[in-house]
Amino acid sequence: MKAVILVGGQGTRLRPLTDTIPKSMLPLVNIPFLEHVLKLLKRYSIEEVILSAGVSLDVFKNYFGDGKEYGLKIIYAKEDEPLGTAGAIKNVEKYLDDSTFVVLNGDILTDLNIARLVEYHKSKKALVTITLASVEDPTPYGLVPIDDTGKVITFLEKPSQDEAITDLINAGTYVLEPEILSFIPEGINYSFEKGVFPGMVKRDEGIFGFSPNVYWLDIGTPQKYLKAHHDVLEGEIELNFEGEQIKPRVWVGEDCEISSEANIFGPVVIGNSCQIEASATIFGHTTIGNNCIVGPGAAVSESVLFDGCKVNGASIVKRSILGRGVELDARVHIEDMVIAEEKVKINNDNFNHRLAEEKLDDRSR
Ligand code: GTP
Repeated sequence: MKAVILVGGQGTRLRPLTDTIPKSMLPLVNIPFLEHVLKLLKRYSIEEVILSAGVSLDVFKNYFGDGKEYGLKIIYAKEDEPLGTAGAIKNVEKYLDDSTFVVLNGDILTDLNIARLVEYHKSKKALVTITLASVEDPTPYGLVPIDDTGKVITFLEKPSQDEAITDLINAGTYVLEPEILSFIPEGINYSFEKGVFPGMVKRDEGIFGFSPNVYWLDIGTPQKYLKAHHDVLEGEIELNFEGEQIKPRVWVGEDCEISSEANIFGPVVIGNSCQIEASATIFGHTTIGNNCIVGPGAAVSESVLFDGCKVNGASIVKRSILGRGVELDARVHIEDMVIAEEKVKINNDNFNHRLAEEKLDDRSR
């Protein structure tokens, strides 16, 4: 079976990280996010993946190549302008054949059993099956209420609390029959959520919802990106990552120098060739990339450090994300969702709490 993964979005809510790394290539426990997705697909007998990307297509191509290493055949399709979720599928029509296929948003962390999803789709003789996730507060999302047979009744975009008649939202993973392609106009930006699917419901064309009880999270905001790390490290979703467990829930990569006087409280993942110096403290729910240095007396907690970061003596990093090659001088204090842009250097004694608040305002969506 073939799967199309949509990785051509702008990722605006994760800027500035996504200015230099496409959202689906951001690391999750030191492995590009999309690699985890490809492994899930392989587990459920997907043989061919079409990556529908935008201008950053080469980043994917250079990393995944022809896909052999993952036991998959990977085909790359580029959009010069974003075509929207449905337009992107129309754009790859030539790579699809006349069989059922799967479409996935490339920013969803899940352990969905795709074989069961496809089985459900076939049992309903559906044209489209939308995977649904149940969320606590559905109001920021598109709601998808279904009837007793699983048929989608309507689509409700960002409803008020009173209008929220279900907690089921579109989880961004679909099974589609090839006939769907004729419902999508060619060469224009067109979306499944606002265009194709509501039209199908109006015409009463078989569109079903599948609501499995599985882990589901879209990693599209800084808060959710950190939560993804938290949940993986807590084992709430089973995901492979690298490193040797040197003590309970502390995984360390190769060629690291970890001072015997450093304090590390798991769950923590540390990449390859890192240096953790005396009296440095790493608290739980932290991932440290490759080639990072945490200096004497520095403390890092609930954070993600990309490759090549340097946290100098007595600096504090809490609930924040440091892009590749970020360097903090001595006694810098950053906390509460500071996102430090790639290669930024923050000077001695800087306190970056307000910066976080400003950034959070930008991202409230
Ligand atoms: P934000 O700008 O933060 O909303 O992120 P985004 O642009 O990625 O949008 P969104 O989270 O809604 O996208 C969900 C998934 O669809 C992501 O994996 C995107 O990469 C992908 N996607 C969104 N729009 C397009 C598009 O026009 N073309 C393609 N190929 N993929 C898209």
